[in-house]
Amino acid sequence: MGRGVAQRFAQNNHSVVLVDVNEQILEEALKKIKRDIKLAGMFSVKTTENVDHANISVSLDYSAVADADFIVENVPENLEIKTAVYKGIDGAAKSECVFFANTSCISITKLGALTNRADKVIGVHFMNPAPKKNFAEVIKGTHTSDETIRKTVALREGVGITAGIINDITGFVSNRLSHLFMSEAAYIVFEGVAEAAMVDEIFKKGFGHTMGPLQTADLIGLDTVLDSLRVLYDYYEDSKFRACPLLKKMVDAGVLGVKTGQGFYKY
Ligand SMILES: NC(=O)c1ccc[n+]([C@@H]2O[C@H](COP(=O)([O-])OP(=O)(O)OC[C@H]3O[C@@H](n4cnc5c(N)ncnc54)[C@H](O)[C@@H]3O)[C@@H](O)[C@H]2O)c1
Repeated sequence: MGRGVAQRFAQNNHSVVLVDVNEQILEEALKKIKRDIKLAGMFSVKTTENVDHANISVSLDYSAVADADFIVENVPENLEIKTAVYKGIDGAAKSECVFFANTSCISITKLGALTNRADKVIGVHFMNPAPKKNFAEVIKGTHTSDETIRKTVALREGVGITAGIINDITGFVSNRLSHLFMSEAAYIVFEGVAEAAMVDEIFKKGFGHTMGPLQTADLIGLDTVLDSLRVLYDYYEDSKFRACPLLKKMVDAGVLGVKTGQGFYKY
């Protein structure tokens, strides 16, 4: 997601620095972003004038975000990892910097409380793939200020994204609903009721959705889906958010969906 979000901002003439803990991921991301911006240009999507000069840099160090006006956090859906990152960026960024949490499920209020700037923490849930999906769910935490919302709306309009603004609750609208149907779809396969392709076909043809639940889970990444189900289960203390054992088994086996070339489908 971080790579896709960086591409969208770079394509719209923003200066971007990508920070990760893994140097190889950063190098590959840089290559892929430049290639995708070039491809988007060939298909007449608005791009920076000169791809080679697209203003993207990479870093392994939080000090690289010292001058940033906005930070979009895209680290794994794991509160322990996010806690370390929010504390790190809170110390490294200038006081007026706004933090966008691109979390799938974790409460924005909870993430804001990890910082000394809860008024400047807002949920911006980008849709996958971020360079192509022109919609984001924007989530107002308990302490998110009107000024932060105003800045967020202005920025997202400049990168071609429309948004639905909602109040904070774990899972928001999109993932509180979608993780129920993704896990239930996995149960249907697990129980041998229908194969993945049939489950998705019924969902698509029956209800007019463009993607089925298992295609969606593969696109998101089964590890991220499982992490999100755990967040929902813990927060609501409700067994309806239980994760299908088949999902757990696939994640244990490293079968994570599109990103590993195999999930419910082969890629
Ligand atoms: N996958 C989706 O479709 C999707 C959509 C919207 C939001 N999200 C959310 O976006 C976030 C990232 O999900 P993803 O699917 O891109 O995960 P991912 O595992 O593919 O990528 C996470 C990246 O974070 C890096 N990372 C790990 N620890 C770090 C640290 N301490 N500092 C800096 N970088 C670190 C990893 O090296 C990796 O490159 C999650 O919160 C997820 O819920 C995902």
